[in-house]
Amino acid sequence: MAREDFGDGTRAVRAGLPEAGQGEPFLPGPTFAAPYHLRGRPEDSDFVYGRYGNPTWSRYEAALAELEGGAAAVVFASGMAALSALLLPRLRPGDVLVAPADSYRGTRILAERYLQPMGVEVRLAPTPGDAMAAQLDGATFLLLETPTNPQLEVCDIRALADAAHERGALVAVDNTFATPLGQRPLELGADFSVASASKMLTGHADLILGYVATRDSAHPAITAWRTMAGSVPGPFEVWLAHRSLATLGVRLERQCATALALAQALAERDDVSAVRYPGLEGDPSHELAARQMTRFGPILSFDVGSQERADRFLAECRLVSDATSFGGVHTSAERRARWSGDAVSEGFIRFSAGCEETADVVGDVLRALDTARS
Ligand SMILES: Cc1ncc(COP(=O)(O)O)c(C=O)c1O
Repeated sequence: MAREDFGDGTRAVRAGLPEAGQGEPFLPGPTFAAPYHLRGRPEDSDFVYGRYGNPTWSRYEAALAELEGGAAAVVFASGMAALSALLLPRLRPGDVLVAPADSYRGTRILAERYLQPMGVEVRLAPTPGDAMAAQLDGATFLLLETPTNPQLEVCDIRALADAAHERGALVAVDNTFATPLGQRPLELGADFSVASASKMLTGHADLILGYVATRDSAHPAITAWRTMAGSVPGPFEVWLAHRSLATLGVRLERQCATALALAQALAERDDVSAVRYPGLEGDPSHELAARQMTRFGPILSFDVGSQERADRFLAECRLVSDATSFGGVHTSAERRARWSGDAVSEGFIRFSAGCEETADVVGDVLRALDTARS
């Protein structure tokens, strides 16, 4: 049976591992090296210097390329380093970047603070529906994020990729919220899948990492940028990421089950509004999400009415860590309006379901909401 015949949760367990070797470990330990032994011509050696390449990176990159269904993947020191590698060396004065108005705020800051002053036209459009299609005339690069952080809006990757390609633009999808086990943008027509691996992909809230996966070829320009900008990951972080990949399927299974159960329970309450989860029937994004996603992820959002109630609710939870970021084995949440830059109400909660037992998390949240009602 070919490996591609197995489910992606199965493939994640072995992706990127070397062939079995007698007496060898399943996943070789991290290679810590600045220079490698190098006699003679550098071209004859796979590894010459630690900023250029590392076997620990190569194994993880092979795993990511396999799971994303792409030709290659390049791992970076963070998700922002990966986004920078995609956009900064590519876009030139006069080029047009179309990006989501409701994306992760760091992505918008990168576009507006760094690309725009260089002469790149930045067009921001909301994600839901096909609003971005109306912005594509003259576009050089379309960056999608779906589902979006933190509003959980979903756009139609295939339709938008087709529309962008007709106009000669390249297309990237920020796949952080879905992970390659939830959505495969390259198979839906995108040229690049870019993500923060600091969230559910690694899942233990203990490292920062990112990657770009490419559909057709290795795109040496992306690797060259990593080498010259020096946005290289540490071998130990990459080894931890590879080790954590094996449990991605089982982690997501629990996290998605809890997210759905909680969304359903919250939708029944009259003291919570605007419950959003792409997996929730009746959610404005559900139909499209069900078409292009295979798992809906651990993130949901809801509004508890006010800053005061949100603060009381979060303080009252015993199983929910008040923290930014998301996707780890520990359930976490935050009142998103404590940061500026997202168009969210004061009582908006971004919630990330962890790997605790579903009944415990749902019970804890409902109890905390009851206590924080008055
Ligand atoms: C959707 C999305 N993309 C990119 C990033 C940036 O990733 P990192 O923090 O790994 O640099 C984040 C971080 O929250 C994110 O949510």
